Amino acid sequence: MHSIKELQQIIDTAVKEIHYPTTPNELYEPIAYLMALGGKRLRPALVLMATDLFGGDIEDAKAPALAIEMFHNFTLMHDDIMDNAPIRRGQPTVHEKWSNSVAILSGDVMFVKAYRLMIQVKPEILTAVLEVFNKTAIEVCEGQQIDMNFELRKEVSIEEYLEMIRLKTAVLLGGALKIGALIGDASAQNANLLYQFGENLGLAFQLQDDILDVYGDPEKFGKQVGGDIMSNKKTFLLIKALELAQGDDLINLTAWINKKDFVPEEKVEAVKTLYNRLNIRTLSEEVMQQYAKLALDAFEKIDTPIENKKTLLSFAEMLVEREN
Ligand code: IPE
Ligand code: IPE
Ligand code: MG
Ligand code: MG
Ligand code: MG
Repeated sequence: MHSIKELQQIIDTAVKEIHYPTTPNELYEPIAYLMALGGKRLRPALVLMATDLFGGDIEDAKAPALAIEMFHNFTLMHDDIMDNAPIRRGQPTVHEKWSNSVAILSGDVMFVKAYRLMIQVKPEILTAVLEVFNKTAIEVCEGQQIDMNFELRKEVSIEEYLEMIRLKTAVLLGGALKIGALIGDASAQNANLLYQFGENLGLAFQLQDDILDVYGDPEKFGKQVGGDIMSNKKTFLLIKALELAQGDDLINLTAWINKKDFVPEEKVEAVKTLYNRLNIRTLSEEVMQQYAKLALDAFEKIDTPIENKKTLLSFAEMLVEREN
């Protein structure tokens, strides 16, 4: 078994060893830039941990882990254009630093590079791995489109929100774990339980991301705080507030949502004040904890020696307490 630290070291070294061509500069420099900015490297860690959980050789999991991280970074590069986000990992986003066109094309290459890395798995599991990866990649795009559609929709139910974040975020955690399980030659039942663990952990993870988008410390969060409020993202927080607000509060909130011209900081402040009055943060954290619990329930059912489970378990606990 490997410790979290060891696995993260392995990932860091592997990421640094990825070689990028130098020309055209505008195509490759943004990729090297975003990949070097770090981030939590959570998804590749999940691939390695899953392989390790079932006693597989983590050497075999390195390329697919990098594939998942490359794919994740590709989605971030495009997501930041879509969300009009100025900052990522504490630095200017690629489309801000270069341009939208650059971010689109660099992202496209990353997507291809991700497949190049993924197909390095052993031939006997290649089809199964690609099936998981293909399904996951398509679902992430579906989730991303639904997320954009919801910005313009007045009413979104909690159920619809949960399905949207399942697609845009949770399936990638599940997929990363399932691919790791395939490399570790896990039974189908164990692999599916691990996927369920990842999916529920992913829901908790995105709920936390939505909370941090309002309540995060900008220094630690590394992204613009309040971006979701500015763009009327139908997060759990906003949906719940729309559900609970009454009288003047509801009129006010609706007015802010409909306003076309506004000072961003004023809107963020006003909506946040309302969230505070309605106790939205606590309510969101409670739901987040419920999904973390569901994740652990699935994890418990996995049939492997308890000692093997420790790393993933403490990693999951760390995730729900994160500040970035
Ligand atoms: C950001 O993912 C996108 C979401 C699904 C919320 P992370 O929070 O894992 O981003 P990095 O890789 O650590 O920067
Ligand atoms: C991100 O959701 C999901 C994907 C990138 C697929 P967000 O838009 O909330 O992620 P951040 O907050 O920009 O990292
Ligand atoms: Mg987004
Ligand atoms: Mg975003
Ligand atoms: Mg977010």
